[in-house]
Amino acid sequence: MGLLRGGINEVIATTSFNAAPVGIYYREKKYHAVLFLGSHTAENIARDGWMVANFIHDPVVYVKTAFEDLPKELFIEEPVNGKTMHRLAGADAWAAFTATVEHRTAESMTVALVPEKEIIEKVAVYPVNRGFNSLIDATVHATRYKVTRDAELKMHIDYHAGLVRKCGGKRELEALSMLEGYIG
Ligand SMILES: Cc1cc2nc3c(=O)[nH]c(=O)nc-3n(C[C@H](O)[C@H](O)[C@H](O)COP(=O)(O)O)c2cc1C
Repeated sequence: MGLLRGGINEVIATTSFNAAPVGIYYREKKYHAVLFLGSHTAENIARDGWMVANFIHDPVVYVKTAFEDLPKELFIEEPVNGKTMHRLAGADAWAAFTATVEHRTAESMTVALVPEKEIIEKVAVYPVNRGFNSLIDATVHATRYKVTRDAELKMHIDYHAGLVRKCGGKRELEALSMLEGYIG
């Protein structure tokens, strides 16, 4: 069995010296992602044909990679079936995929993913924390809100920010304050 679970897995996707949160769908034994055009992730995948899913539980990394680029020294090169792929240095585990663009619309492209290699680097246990989960949700809405300034999205962000304040640990609170800075 692979590391990804059924449904949508919110991972940090790395492509050539780039990282961003991305949802990987795993249904009926097949993997795919839907990427908005214009992102570095979409551009790199269309050019290079690979992507690595990083399993990481640091909320700050989710916020940072959603809004800006990471320095090159945070990436590690991994040889995978004759290609050099990049994964995050801090990942607990990673799964490398070859990626083929299957379908394009005006706004997005659907990418079929075929697993090539996966490694667990360190074993850690993460108790369920609503603050962490809400931080991820708030970040999803914030990436859209930054572009649209939609009032309904802001309401979702505020709701989840409340849960982060109530249930999160220090790292979630730090991530939330970064998030608030990005959406200003
Ligand atoms: C949890 C989470 C999941 C996301 N999933 C996707 C996704 O599946 N597809 C997508 O295009 N953008 C997704 N985003 C938004 C991208 O991460 C965001 O647009 C990012 O700035 C793209 O960075 P890049 O230009 O470095 O690729 C997601 C954001 C978050 C926080």
